[in-house]
Amino acid sequence: MAVGDDLKRAAGFAAVDRYVRAGTCIGLGTGTTAHWAIVRVGERVAAGEEIVAVPTSEATAALCRELRIPLAAFGARAIDVAIDGADEVAADWSLTKGGGGAMFREKAVALAARTFVVIVTPEKLVDRLGAFPTPVEVVPYALPYVEREIATHLGATIARRGGETPYVTDNGNALLDCAFGLIADPVGLDRALRDIHGVVATGLFASSLTAAVIVAAPDGVRELQKPELD
Ligand code: A5P
Repeated sequence: MAVGDDLKRAAGFAAVDRYVRAGTCIGLGTGTTAHWAIVRVGERVAAGEEIVAVPTSEATAALCRELRIPLAAFGARAIDVAIDGADEVAADWSLTKGGGGAMFREKAVALAARTFVVIVTPEKLVDRLGAFPTPVEVVPYALPYVEREIATHLGATIARRGGETPYVTDNGNALLDCAFGLIADPVGLDRALRDIHGVVATGLFASSLTAAVIVAAPDGVRELQKPELD
């Protein structure tokens, strides 16, 4: 196991054991923390429980197939609970996601799920989002236009993911990593970005999406108390 994997494993296992019952349709996230939730679901399926998964990426779908976890297409079934990692969790529970490039499908699944559970290690907890650049998925044709619009009107420093070898999302799109500095209004910024023609999705997740945050630290696994929002 890589350094820190024991904590990611603890977070993933705890989320599945607390939130997934036999008969559940579960949304399964993407990334090195969600990996362990998938492994745990695989163990429970192998033990005979009926659990169906909606994957948030081709990588997650491949791991599910390897572990013989039955898959459902997005939209085919109601999703009881979705479990996924995050790159940043703000004090109000808004999130930055998309470090692994899968945020369009991750947001689709989180929006559709009755309960969206976020699993992280403590370094992901921040006061405000923004130290981690915001991933923005863009239709390749519109890339230069979108880049200029974001730089000119929203004042970000922008890097094309992959550089010379452009990163391609599961949806066939490009990714821009946009550094805005600390973000005061993630919902407003997400909207402003999506108003630019060619933007497909952003990695900013509204705080209202998150139902629970599980944090695995060296001294144990805990669930954060829900913040009081104005
Ligand atoms: C994938 O696109 C992301 O949203 C991941 O959920 C996020 O980057 C967290 O990944 P790790 O658990 O690997 O840090």
